[in-house]
Parts: sequence; C-alpha cells; structure tokens
Amino acid sequence: MKILLAASSRHGATDEVGAVIAQELRNAGHDVDQARPEDVTDVRTYDAFVLGSPVYMTRWTQEAIDFTERFSEELHSHPVWAFSVGLSGLPKGKISDPHRIGPVLLSIEPEGHVTFAGRFEPSELSLRERSIARMGGASEGDFRDLDAVRAWSASIVEALAARQ
Ligand SMILES: Cc1cc2nc3c(=O)[nH]c(=O)nc-3n(C[C@H](O)[C@H](O)[C@H](O)COP(=O)(O)O)c2cc1C
Repeated sequence: MKILLAASSRHGATDEVGAVIAQELRNAGHDVDQARPEDVTDVRTYDAFVLGSPVYMTRWTQEAIDFTERFSEELHSHPVWAFSVGLSGLPKGKISDPHRIGPVLLSIEPEGHVTFAGRFEPSELSLRERSIARMGGASEGDFRDLDAVRAWSASIVEALAARQ
C-alpha cells in the first residue's frame, strides 16, 4: 500500500520516531513517504495515513492540526493511525496531560492512537521553551522507547494486512 507518514516536529524527536515507523512499514513491503504536514499539498495517491505530532502546551502543533483540517475528507475515507510524542505520563518527565489533542483525534477518528515518550534536551531549546518546560516539571533526558515504536508499527502492519 502507499502510505503517507506526516509527522510534525520542532526539535527532531518526533521526526526520528516517525522515521522508525516509516522504516517498519517499508520492511513489511509498503511504499511510504515521510513528510512534514506543512509540506504536503496533495494526498490523493495514498491508501493509508500515519499522522504524528509532538505535544506542546497540551496540544498538537498547529501544522499537524491544520493538516487534519485541510485533508479532512481524505482522512475520513482512508485508514488513519495517529501518534503523539510528549513527556506526560512519565514518572519523572511529566508536564501536563495532552487532553487538548482529544478534539483533533475525534475529528480524524483514527484506527488507533498512541502517545510515545519524547525527549527534553534543554541545550536545543530557546530560553522561553526551556523555562516553560522546567516550570511544567520536565526532566532532562531522552525517554524514547524505540521498541515500543516498532511494536506499534507492527500492529499497523497487521491491521493493514487484515484489510487487504
Ligand atoms: C515548551 C515545551 C512545552 C511542552 N509541553 C508538553 C505538554 O504539554 N505535554 C507533553 O506531554 N509534553 C510536552 N513537552 C515535551 C515535548 O513534547 C517533547 O520534548 C517532545 O519530545 C518534543 O518533540 P520534538 O523534538 O519532535 O519537537 C513540552 C516541551 C517543551 C519544550
């Protein structure tokens, strides 16, 4: 199948999670394009979608939200999986729960949604971002679990196979 993996990222952590998902889908024989949502102008050639965004201040990025609005029709007529990358839910990395992504997910009705742990690397951030993250109680570190990302990708492969 031809799949678009559209993942937003401000500091690269979500790009890398997206690349792992894309590779797993390719390993299973799918033809996958990975792009930033804001760079996508046409989705008519795709059979399925994987959308991702980091969570900032409890929200998906505006670019990712815009994507779901711009291509709402196509997303509703094809299978969609969604993933978020953030620090909520980590014992020592909590900022706040990403409740505000709920409406976005409801609007695209994904087959599945998962939140993966992300990365907080203060040296890569602006002073403002650093202060906000620290005020939210974020712990420094790379908490990404690529085995969990691969396991979720495998579940997409299985679900796509069941549809064919
Ligand atoms: C200013 C700021 C705000 C953040 N807000 C949240 C949040 O509300 N919820 C959350 O789970 N993670 C939050 N995070 C953590 C990011 O989602 C995490 O660092 C993620 O890995 C960033 O991905 P990226 O490198 O792809 O942009 C925040 C991080 C920063 C720097």
